[in-house]
Amino acid sequence: MSVHISAKPGEIEKIVLLAGDPLRAKYIADNFLEKPRLVSSTRNIYFFTGTYKGKALTVGASGMGCPSIGIYSYELYSEYEADCIIRIGTCGAYTQKLKLFDLINTDVAVSESTYAECAFGYTKDSFKHRGDAYDIINATATELKLELKNGPIHSGDVFYRAGKGKPAIVKKYKCLAAEMEAFALFANARYLKKDAATLLTVSDIIPTHEKISADEREKALLPMMNLVLESVVKM
Ligand code: HPA
Repeated sequence: MSVHISAKPGEIEKIVLLAGDPLRAKYIADNFLEKPRLVSSTRNIYFFTGTYKGKALTVGASGMGCPSIGIYSYELYSEYEADCIIRIGTCGAYTQKLKLFDLINTDVAVSESTYAECAFGYTKDSFKHRGDAYDIINATATELKLELKNGPIHSGDVFYRAGKGKPAIVKKYKCLAAEMEAFALFANARYLKKDAATLLTVSDIIPTHEKISADEREKALLPMMNLVLESVVKM
């Protein structure tokens, strides 16, 4: 057991998918995994371990924001020996060149967050994905004939903010979209020499305020779930 996860040693697999929302993790376990077992529910942050097409994996939740995913991913890597964590989440597009439901495989996560500096003394404002997962996801998307974008993502520390216009860091890196977690995940992976990727579905377009409706959300995320699970089979 770690401080925030109550799974026993050996109950978390080497490959872990992290959704933001515990109920999304449960949805994946209920609908896609063979023989899913609930291995942790501390704070209602669920982790399920099972198999997909025979490949063992764990699906769990990260909560929202860098502090939360920072805790869960650190414990998964360091206490449970997870080798590769793939975040699957939603994002808001900064550009109208992206459409609702588009899929993005994150090259690099950038942030004004102090997470990496506070945690590890890293003064960088950008961290890359690590390991083979990113390339495997790209190759799997091609095989499945799914259109997938690649690019830099802004992991913001705030969802609501005063003022209009893009944050300076978004302009500096020409970020495609905003989410709130990849930066801490990639910083942890770098520090602990582990693998990490972040696959996102565009759920809103920031300049036009278009959004996927609550009803559409479940169906909207199916291509991303299919892509990530088919990618995991190859890892
Ligand atoms: N900002 C930050 N995180 C998000 C967004 C957004 O617009 N949409 C989905 N996750």
